[in-house]
Amino acid sequence: MSSNMSVLAANEMLPASREVALPAANYIFNKANLAQYRQMMQRGLELVMSNISTSEKPFSGVLPHELASLFEGLNLDHTYATLDEVLAEVQALYLNDAIYFHHPSYVAHLNCPIVVPAILAELILSSVNSSVDTWDQSAGATLIEQSLIDWSLGKIGFNDQADGVFTSGGTQSNLMALLLAREYVCQQRWRHSIKQHGLPPDYRKLRIFTSELSHFSVQKSAAVLGLGYDAAIAIPADNYYRMDMSALAEALQRSCDEGLVPMAVVATAGTTDFGSIDPLPRIADLCQQYGAWMHVDAAYGCGLLVSPRHRHWIDGIEKADSVTVDYHKSFFQPVSCGAFFTKDKPHLAAVTYHADYLNPLSQSQEGTPNLVNKSLQTTRRFDALKLWLTLRTMGADAIGEGFDRVIHLARQTYMLLLSEPNIEVIHQPQLSTLVFRYRPCLVCDESIFDEVNVGIRKALARSGEALVAGTKVRGRQYLKFTLLNPTATISDIQAVLKLIKQQGAEYVSCVDSLAKEFSNE
Ligand SMILES: Cc1ncc(COP(=O)(O)O)c(C=O)c1O
Repeated sequence: MSSNMSVLAANEMLPASREVALPAANYIFNKANLAQYRQMMQRGLELVMSNISTSEKPFSGVLPHELASLFEGLNLDHTYATLDEVLAEVQALYLNDAIYFHHPSYVAHLNCPIVVPAILAELILSSVNSSVDTWDQSAGATLIEQSLIDWSLGKIGFNDQADGVFTSGGTQSNLMALLLAREYVCQQRWRHSIKQHGLPPDYRKLRIFTSELSHFSVQKSAAVLGLGYDAAIAIPADNYYRMDMSALAEALQRSCDEGLVPMAVVATAGTTDFGSIDPLPRIADLCQQYGAWMHVDAAYGCGLLVSPRHRHWIDGIEKADSVTVDYHKSFFQPVSCGAFFTKDKPHLAAVTYHADYLNPLSQSQEGTPNLVNKSLQTTRRFDALKLWLTLRTMGADAIGEGFDRVIHLARQTYMLLLSEPNIEVIHQPQLSTLVFRYRPCLVCDESIFDEVNVGIRKALARSGEALVAGTKVRGRQYLKFTLLNPTATISDIQAVLKLIKQQGAEYVSCVDSLAKEFSNE
């Protein structure tokens, strides 16, 4: 490519008018179009950089109907004449009002800021567009993914009988876990293959035990698997928001006494709200005693696998039958990047189907690695490359230290919240979430606290200055910080807290003056 080509303005690469549509061949990523590729990537890079460098807030504060008004009357059959126009539209419809997770005042959901090597990997993997379902669509991509699976298995503490696969995230991994558990338990109990014959006559007896605080994908999976929400038994949490072990033991025993079948216990290593870690070794013992499959949902807590300081918090994970990991939560990876692991490779046969046109049995017999044999998906992104470039550039310790840093920030934040007279914090953090509420001393009505905290969250989002999450605990409304940004400091959190207090005080004084007005009428 000539050097002149790379400095041409984007619109010079595109025709001035689109009365006659350009053939697709002009846009296909290939040798002939590399100049356009370079130019478009550069323009994209500049666009993102200018947004990141000028963004002062994590969000614009736009409301759904305000943004939706920009979409009214858009004609998607119309193409623009210049790349400038195309990008201006992306700016207006998306970037101006995007939620920016890298901003230190974004403390809402389980979205981490992402590392640069992983973004580079996104460019490479999207450009080459490998699909890691079969060897003949991926080659080295399959081997890279398998190497990372083996590496992760080692971190979990599984041996070489174990295996796994990358997934779209925790929801898919948890579904896989319960699907494998269902197949295994039905084989053990009734010598029945669900994969082959569908649900057995006694399928209504199957039960899944999980903390009342586990992720809703457990209930969703139970429904998808034909067992229904009723099959998922919610076990109460203890004072530390971990699954209560005596309640679990009682529930398991009760289900046996009633002739039910304990299919699985889903433990959580990092609950979504409290970051609490269920007692894994004791759950493993109970699973063994009752013949139940043990699954550990470490979607959030998986950062501990590489933590220099806190790895021991998930000791016992190696006793699980299966594990969920979300690199896109605590390994600073772009969405999607998750994985599912099982202790015994043969269990993955529950999702294997050999199609003559894609992954014939003969290929498995020859030793061809077709990852589709262990995945729910067929066409699948090469997300593993993101983790590969991250590990090869930064190393696992850097990731673990990043996670340790947010755990430390959560502890500092806890002390800060404790020192605030108008803030009630209801737990000591284990990972990096904090659940608390604004609770003005002079008010004592629970329903007003609820209103105030909902109001604070909305007002912050509307201002765009900070984004915090909300949740309910025992029917009452709370605010939640999820801290996943290793570059954020306690002063960033102090600034967010100041906004919360300001909004809270304003809200209370509003309610107060309204109440006075009513009493004067
Ligand atoms: C504990 C836990 N498990 C599973 C999930 C689902 O993960 P994903 O959103 O990647 O499907 C979440 C999401 O927040 C989670 O917190």
